[in-house]
Parts: sequence; structure tokens; C-alpha cells
Amino acid sequence: MCGIIGCILYNKKAAPVLLNCVKKLEYRGYDSVGIATSSSIIKIKKDSGKIDDVHENLNLDDLPGDMGIAHVRWATHGLPTKENSHPHTDCKNKIAVVHNGIIENYKEIRDQLIKEGHQFKSETDTEVIPHLIEKYMDMGNDLESATRLAIGNIEGSYAIAAISRDEPNKVVGARKESPLIVGKGNREYFIASDAPAILEHTNKIIYLEDHEMVILSDEGIEIKDSDGNVIKKEIFTIDWTPDMAKKGGYDHFMLKEIHEQPEAVKNTLKEINEIKKIVQKFKKFNRICFVACGTSYHASLIGKYLFEGLIAIPTDVILASEFGYSAEALDENTLVIAITQSGETADTLKALKLVNHKAKTLAIVNVVGSTATREADYVIYIRPGPEIGVAATKTYVSQLVAIYLLAICMSGKEELLEKLQNIPDYMRNALEKEDLIKEIAMKYKDAKDFFFIGRGFSYPTAMEGALKLKEITYIHAEGYAAGELKHGPLALIDDDVPVVAVAPPGKSHEKTLSNVEEVKARGAHVIGLGSSEDEVLKSEAHDMIEFEDKIDEMFSSIHYVIPLQLLSYYISVMKGIDPDHPKNLAKCVTVE
Ligand code: M6R
Repeated sequence: MCGIIGCILYNKKAAPVLLNCVKKLEYRGYDSVGIATSSSIIKIKKDSGKIDDVHENLNLDDLPGDMGIAHVRWATHGLPTKENSHPHTDCKNKIAVVHNGIIENYKEIRDQLIKEGHQFKSETDTEVIPHLIEKYMDMGNDLESATRLAIGNIEGSYAIAAISRDEPNKVVGARKESPLIVGKGNREYFIASDAPAILEHTNKIIYLEDHEMVILSDEGIEIKDSDGNVIKKEIFTIDWTPDMAKKGGYDHFMLKEIHEQPEAVKNTLKEINEIKKIVQKFKKFNRICFVACGTSYHASLIGKYLFEGLIAIPTDVILASEFGYSAEALDENTLVIAITQSGETADTLKALKLVNHKAKTLAIVNVVGSTATREADYVIYIRPGPEIGVAATKTYVSQLVAIYLLAICMSGKEELLEKLQNIPDYMRNALEKEDLIKEIAMKYKDAKDFFFIGRGFSYPTAMEGALKLKEITYIHAEGYAAGELKHGPLALIDDDVPVVAVAPPGKSHEKTLSNVEEVKARGAHVIGLGSSEDEVLKSEAHDMIEFEDKIDEMFSSIHYVIPLQLLSYYISVMKGIDPDHPKNLAKCVTVE
């Protein structure tokens, strides 16, 4: 949801550095890009479109000055046009601002500022910020005080970076409910929406809290609380390397990240001791409540089957965006588990806030130091490394492993850990099916609708397969509990609708096969996922993706998702879509 960068460099042009950093944030939005630098005047280059295209036309790195700000946009207010691209300026073009978030009361502020004589050039909510700063600077405030006064007017969420021609050696940043980090390099200082954007320059990171402000200048970094008092903050050293945020020879981040999954899972498995330590601190809970969105919600659904199966604890899974609407019976015997790879998803953070100490909270997170890690009572890091592709892949399997480890530790059934040790090998075998999956993708790429079906542990896998297909191929897809088809959606099945049946060996297998027969009887083409020894599925399915392992469905969710990710990836590429940047989406959803 928009990415912002600000920097002050030492004896170095800022624009090429800003361009390089903002490219790493393109996963957050790709409707437009813009850079502003300041020396004696503020110079801005910006336009709608992806960074490479805009750069080709505008030479974004050709701007003077050793400090500046940059932005990639995920449009909320106003179409993705040049006028609506950030940075936005005041009436005199002496202040420039980039913003991530939503200003809920921007209409009232804008109307008032227009009455006071301000002239607006865009349809965005953001543009009120430079005009407010202008108003307060005109009253005699410096950039920092004027920014503090400006954000005092704002309702909603923001991470901003502001510069002014009048103070050419200063970048002021502030945050509320949108992520903002500070990077401390060698006489170079940064602010950014996330750490991977600036890793090439520094791995020393400070995490800002809501209502804190940061002032970058030639002299260094100053962080202040909402009253303007200087505060000391911990500097974290991030162990991600810049190479982790590169494509490494793959055509897309998504493909690279799909292939990194066996390693990702191995890294998550190493967290076992940390998880044991957390579980030792737990009291006895009598209810688990997962909250999450999207792919993380699907991981949570697997959690329900596990926790109820292994520990017999009643477990609910609630979409984070719905959490505030159900009368949550939370008490000290409930453990709320928030699953979020980014740790910055607004809906999930809101749910954590709503818990408000009524229950214990645990966050299962990828991004170290992200907001969720500071909101929750306990944190489990999943450690697959940074995920850049918008479609979650390696973070999903790592989330699953963390949930398995947690459930196993809480159940005391440690003998089950052995089963997890083989999963990376099963995943490698699944990745070897890539050529077969490419052929299947070619065969079905023009379908208009897809169904993904499964039962038990395979039901969330089917939902995740459908979500991947929707988001990166734009094909309509439904993930359905196989047994529920006959209660309505069977009416949609005909010979134009491919049905992907996730049918590993186990308790649900036989019934899933009956559902396969039902859809076949209505003309559907079936793509089966199951054991290489499953002669029935092999004979029923038109296309079969075989798994040589014989592991039970309870442990199948981690590697069975891989062919579904690859299927979506290849259909996306065959349709000429960039799977790393699907339309209308962003990696990190920081608006509710
Ligand atoms: O960062 P989070 O795990 O909280 O993100 C939640 C969803 O936005 C995310 O899983 C989304 O559904 C995926 N990008 C889909 O691939």
C-alpha cells in the first residue's frame, strides 16, 4: 500500500539511490512512481506506471542534490495519473511530501484550505499535507514543527516523509498506523516503509512507533515523541542480506520464492527451541482464536484442524477484517494468534488492538520488528527471508510449519516432529514436477472459471490454490470444501470448468474421490493431486500430479500447495501477466 523512502546522503547524488530503494518497494504499489530532491530548489519527476517504464521516459535518477524523497503508489484516492502521483507539493512548490496511508478527514481539511486560498492540483487525500505544512510554515514554524502541527489535524493513517526548500538538509518523517523504519548508515540516513528497501545501504534499523517523528539531517538522526521530546530508540541489526531481495537468475521473484520453499521450511524448523520457550510461558488455554487475512488466513485454517485434532482445544479462525464485528468472547484463558507475514496488515493490527489485553496474544510473523511483533505478548518468527512477490508462497509454507511446531509443542506429542523433518524433501520432489505443471497450465490457461476442492486439511490448500490463481491470473476461481459442492456450486460445473482435486491419502480421501466422480459426471475436467499409488484417482483424473511420499493428509498441506502455486505462476506468465505485480493488489495492505 504505497512505499515511501527518504534519505540524506554524504557527497552522493540522492536520486539514483532513491530510485534503487524505491524499486525494492514496488511490491507495495505500482500505479505510479515519483522522486523529489532538494538543493536550492525542489525538483520532482513523477508519472503513472511501473518504475522501469516511467524511468525509461523520465530518467528518474537524473535529479540534483544529495537528499530527497521517493514514492510508489497503490491508488486509494484518485486515479493512477501523473497529477495524483506523489510527491505532492504546496502552492509555492517549496514543500514536497510522500505518504502511505489514508487521511479520513481530508475533504474537510481540503475545503478549509481552499477557503484560505490554497490551490490543489490532485484528487488525492495526501495533498492536504504539504498545504497544511505550508500554512504552518507561513506562520513562522520550521519544517519539523509545521509537520507536527499538520499531522495533528489528520485523522486516519499515515507514514510520511517531507522536505522543504527552506531547510534543504532535512527530511522529516512521521507515522501512525502505517509502517516506517529508520536506517542508520555511515554518514547516510534513511527512512523507508520497510527494511529490504535500504539493505544495500545499511542493516542498522530503528522501528518507529505510532505518533513518533524522525528528523534526518547532516548531523544524524533525531527521533522525537508526540510532544517533541527527543527519545532514544534501540537500533536493530537485520540479518537479511541485499541478495535475498534480488531475483537471483529467476524470471520473477515469485518463481524464485517458490523454489526457495524447502530451505524456508528448514529455517522455520530451526525455530523449535524458541517455540518451546514460548510454550513454557503459556498458562493453560481453553480456547484458541486465529486472526489473519488472505493467505495467512488459509494457514490459520490449517491451524484449526491441527489444534482441534492434536490438543482438542476449541479453535476459531476469524478474518481479521471481520474481527471487530463478532462479539468476541475473549478472556484470559483465550490465546489469540495473529498470523501475518508482513506484520503490518492494517486489519490484523486492528484485530490485535481490539483484543486489548482481554486475552493473551501471539503473533506469527516474518518481518522482524514489524508492528505486530510489538503489539503481541509473544512472537514467533518464521524466518524464510524477505518475500518480494505479491503472491505469498514461501511465507505461507513457513507459517504452516510454525503452526505445526506450535501445535506439536503445546500437545506434547513431540514424536510428530520427525514427520516434519522429511517435508523439505517432499517439497523438492514436488518442485521436480515443474515441466508437467507447465503442460497442465498450457492446457487450461484459457478457462474462465476453476474450482479447487478438498476436505479436511486439504480444504485450506484448495482455498489457497484458488486465491493464487485469482490474484495472479485474473481467472475466477473458487476454493471449496469438496463435500459442499452438492449444496449449490455443483450447478456451475460443466465441461468448461476444470476442477483441481486435492486428495492426499488419509481420512478424507475416499469421500473426496466420490466428489471427483460427481464433478466428472457433470463434464468437468479433473486435475488430481494425490499419491502415486492412488490408482483410483489416477484413473479418474484427466491430469494427475503424483506425490511419491505416502504421508498422511495431516502433514500434506505444506508440500501439496507447491503444484498449485506453480500452476498459477505458469498460467500467469502464459497470459502475459507479471505475477510479481498483479493488478489492483499490493504486498502489504496497510489500509482497512
Ligand atoms: O502480511 P500478511 O500475511 O498479513 O498479508 C495478508 C494478506 O494480504 C496476504 O496473505 C495476501 O492474501 C497474499 N499476498 C496473497 O498471496
